[in-house]
Amino acid sequence: MKTVFSGIQPTGKVHLGNLLGAINNWVHLSNEENKNYFCVVDLHSLTTHPDPSLMQENINETIKVLISSGINQKNSNIYIQSNVPEHVQLSWILSNFCQIGELQRMTQFKEKVDQLGSHAGILTYPVLMAADILIHKANEVPVGDDQTQHLELTRNIVERFNNSYGEIFPLPERTTGKVGARLMSLRHPDNKMSKSKDDLNGTIYFDDSKDEIIKKFKSSVTDSENEIKFDNETKKGISNLIDVYSTLHELTHADVENKFKNSSYSEFKIEVGESVVSYLEPIKERYDSLSEGDVATLIKDNLDDVKNSAKKTMDEVSAVVGV
Ligand code: AMP
Ligand code: TRP
Repeated sequence: MKTVFSGIQPTGKVHLGNLLGAINNWVHLSNEENKNYFCVVDLHSLTTHPDPSLMQENINETIKVLISSGINQKNSNIYIQSNVPEHVQLSWILSNFCQIGELQRMTQFKEKVDQLGSHAGILTYPVLMAADILIHKANEVPVGDDQTQHLELTRNIVERFNNSYGEIFPLPERTTGKVGARLMSLRHPDNKMSKSKDDLNGTIYFDDSKDEIIKKFKSSVTDSENEIKFDNETKKGISNLIDVYSTLHELTHADVENKFKNSSYSEFKIEVGESVVSYLEPIKERYDSLSEGDVATLIKDNLDDVKNSAKKTMDEVSAVVGV
């Protein structure tokens, strides 16, 4: 049986990129014979200096989206990172198996330094992420394409640690959905869709209304041709829409091109928008039916199991390093 771990930051509203790039895949994995840990990584989000008065609300909202997305709860633990201090303990130990240069070379480090200033949390962010993955000895990590480098770093840390102390950790693999590993902004198809608030029209949020969704797709940026063809170099906008449609309907890019070969861009945009509306509708319905009490109960029920698993790894690691 495989162990699956993934995380999401409670930094704002969950968007279609999160759902198609990561959470959708969590749902698939939760329906297989795996042991799953899905974590709201609030400690990671501190690197962005979020408003403390919004923190609990954002954590709750993120957990509610995870529950509503259809994750099979039977074999999955949804939990909050800061409730399990072993993540940070392991992170400290692992930081001794990671070079400063490696951390400085991370693309996300370079991007974030420009946005957030160069504090040490941004530099060591990937070490805490490695600890998240390794605290339950996960073999599989379903994440979007933007996390590839962080996962590579985790694998390097595992190899070095295991070389010194024996086969303590498995070598984790990244898994992505078939397509949609990196969903781009509808307005700026060169940039990935993200939670940042300066691209509201390019981002589809999980709770956007039907009208908002259709409007955002209708005004999505494409190109001056009128051929629905996947080409990520010269037709980024239309390729992004093909990606969304093919993910939601489990079709290949060629299938989508074929299906819409006689359609105009505006017809295709509406079809994609409506597919997104149908995909989000049941998620929103489940979301609206969940109470704060439901969330609190779920977190409480999962926590013992999560803490036991984390403690077991931490005891083993402490013993091998001799502390
Ligand atoms: P974050 O919102 O940065 O915590 O990301 C949570 C998960 O969503 C991670 O697995 C990311 O790789 C994934 N993700 C975030 N943005 C996108 C995007 N635009 N396309 C695909 N996956 C994404
Ligand atoms: N860095 C991830 C992101 O921004 C979130 C994350 C933190 C994560 N720890 C993780 C993802 C562990 C997978 C596994 O999206």
